[in-house]
Amino acid sequence: MEKPPATAVEASACGKVILLGEHAVVYGRPALAVPVCGLRAWVRAEPGPPGSGCWIEARDLGEILRLTTAPADSPLARAVRLALAHLDVPEPDLRLVLWSALPIAGGLGSGAAVATALIRAVFRWFGRPTDPAVIAALVYEVEKLHHGTPSGIDNTVIAYERPLRFVRGQAPVFFTIARPLPLLIADSGIPSPTRETVAAVRAGWAAEPARYETLFDAIAALVWEAEARLAIGDLEGLGGLLDVNHRLLVELGVSAPALDRLVVAARQAGALGAKLTGGGRGGNIIALVPPERMEAVAQALRAAGARAIYRTVVPPTAAAPGG
Ligand code: MEV
Repeated sequence: MEKPPATAVEASACGKVILLGEHAVVYGRPALAVPVCGLRAWVRAEPGPPGSGCWIEARDLGEILRLTTAPADSPLARAVRLALAHLDVPEPDLRLVLWSALPIAGGLGSGAAVATALIRAVFRWFGRPTDPAVIAALVYEVEKLHHGTPSGIDNTVIAYERPLRFVRGQAPVFFTIARPLPLLIADSGIPSPTRETVAAVRAGWAAEPARYETLFDAIAALVWEAEARLAIGDLEGLGGLLDVNHRLLVELGVSAPALDRLVVAARQAGALGAKLTGGGRGGNIIALVPPERMEAVAQALRAAGARAIYRTVVPPTAAAPGG
């Protein structure tokens, strides 16, 4: 076994937004997601006194957990236990201090980011490489605690920290973004656990399978079209597709008046398109906004009730070979 470092190591993980395709992705359709590199969860791993075992201190979440006594369904403890089991190492004397800039239950991947940062920190502590495919697979196991049937998109985009098209059960495909993608992310301030919205969609789908399958297919068609628009830098076209995706999410029953207000305000103030992102019923919306209209749209979002606004620009990419 590698000699553990005597001094602290740090790790972090980004947040994410789903550009198009949430919920339908749980049912085998494609979705496009991008990392939000400026909103992160951080973990500092510090040596603990001999015999102290492993502690997780997540002051933002109001949790201080001792690994040996933490409940089996604690996502934080599960992340660390999975990392240790994967590395096949005994519990170290280690203090893991966690903090996060990501809103909890806001559709920005907070749960997956926190788990990714914890797992990366443990891997670094033991001097092991943090291969994205390995990290994504471990975080997926943690995601199952957040909701039983995660598609796998959150853990994948966060572990790879690259824009990607995701289809459940398949390797991610890194799509091309020809022009910088300027986004405003606006928080409704309403926490909405993904578990609940995914369960609501499942109940709707069970009651009306044909209608839901049709909606999922319509969302999938938007995703393919959006990928083509992104590849040629057609942001106006992409904006229109975001609007249509929001309407389809309304039909799936996962929007909320507060989200609809934000989306309308963004469009009226000059966004090229806007939609809820993530599980919905609360959490965040995204708006695609040309740089010269950012300030006007941000003001309109504040007036429409946004509790927090975050600006991000997804840089252009090239498709990976074979991707
Ligand atoms: C959550 O970020 C996205 C959902 O599609 C759930 C999932 O894919 O697991 C709502």
